[in-house]
Amino acid sequence: MSDDATSSEAFDRWYADLSVSRVKDDVVARHLGLPPEMLSTSLVPWSGIEAITTALRLVPEDVLLDLACGRGGYGLEVARRSRARLLGMDFSAEAIRQATANADAQEREATFEVGSLTSTGLPDASVDAVLCIDAIQFVELPEQAFAEAARVLDVGGRLVLTGWEARDADDERVGPGLRGRRWHDGLAVAGFEEVEVEDCSDWAAMERALWEEAVQLSPGDDRALQELRDEAVTVLETFDLTRRVMVSATRAG
Ligand SMILES: C[S@@+](CC[C@H](N)C(=O)[O-])C[C@H]1O[C@@H](n2cnc3c(N)ncnc32)[C@H](O)[C@@H]1O
Repeated sequence: MSDDATSSEAFDRWYADLSVSRVKDDVVARHLGLPPEMLSTSLVPWSGIEAITTALRLVPEDVLLDLACGRGGYGLEVARRSRARLLGMDFSAEAIRQATANADAQEREATFEVGSLTSTGLPDASVDAVLCIDAIQFVELPEQAFAEAARVLDVGGRLVLTGWEARDADDERVGPGLRGRRWHDGLAVAGFEEVEVEDCSDWAAMERALWEEAVQLSPGDDRALQELRDEAVTVLETFDLTRRVMVSATRAG
């Protein structure tokens, strides 16, 4: 999904296309080392989930909010490893429908709700950790998403975001979702401390291999595969201008 098509309706169509054929999911799962039931729509490999889980510092029964959860795969896996209670939220009703069906199929207890990254509707200080995988680039004003995460997190709660950072924040060649954005500064202003931005070059290597296969695809009439091929062409043009990152932070008191 390119970062200039960011409405919930566009994502509803994207998720509906994904449910028609498994071919795209199979290509992505093979490159990222994911089990078939993960249903990722991002680019975090299986090997990255351990670092994410550790950084969230959850204890059993904590509430984990997976913001922009998509079909719920990563939140379910992190909750399984940490025995946390999962609340997944996404502005695509179709993603939430598929996430709920996915959890039911795995006989997992979790709640999935339609909601926005910038306005969750949750009470203040009501969750112990927030996870947001590969979605913040879709938000026009990321500071609003950071402020919302800070509002719903209890003091001392942890935030983990994954995404990409422009090597040069002012580079005109990178997409609008990354240009001019500095994770560290935005999170500190929103009320986070202990902000760490970690380079994940091993994730980037797997991502590049995925895009390099995707540009060679002959998608036929598989719309999910067409979209993957088209995105691969665009992403590879600026791939070396960005770095793959995992960002962690603690809600300050
Ligand atoms: C690349 S997908 C990642 C989904 C999921 N985190 C994963 O890793 O599989 C980006 C997700 O962000 C969601 N999204 C984009 N903008 C959003 C917003 N403003 N509020 C809530 N969800 C949003 C989309 O619907 C989509 O599910």
